[in-house]
Amino acid sequence: MRADTEADATVTEDTETPAPPARTVEITFVTNSGKTVTAPENSNLLRVSLREQGGIPFKCGGGICGTCKCRIERGLEHTDAVKPKERKHLNDDDLQAGYRMACQTFVKGDVAVSWEPRTGPR
Ligand code: FES
Repeated sequence: MRADTEADATVTEDTETPAPPARTVEITFVTNSGKTVTAPENSNLLRVSLREQGGIPFKCGGGICGTCKCRIERGLEHTDAVKPKERKHLNDDDLQAGYRMACQTFVKGDVAVSWEPRTGPR
């Protein structure tokens, strides 16, 4: 009679924890007739605008040209810290008034954003 008792090597640990559902934020494009969209928390403002056709003007997408200057009308406290690149285009008064560069701004909560509409084609 064999008495081999192999240890059961099967580990049945349940280590898979499902990712918590991503939180979403609401972004209102005031200058675009108040169009409102939802996006994942910590989204880049310009990216959301591009994806959802929000209408924020832009050129470089990299904090250089200054085209994406916009004003956070509501929810400025839901935006991330001002980047050094933004300070090249925005002075203290601008920042105080809620201006940001959309391509450099990430949103952590609901915001409403406006901008200077571009004048017609030149
Ligand atoms: S798009 Fe050029 S600075 Fe934001």
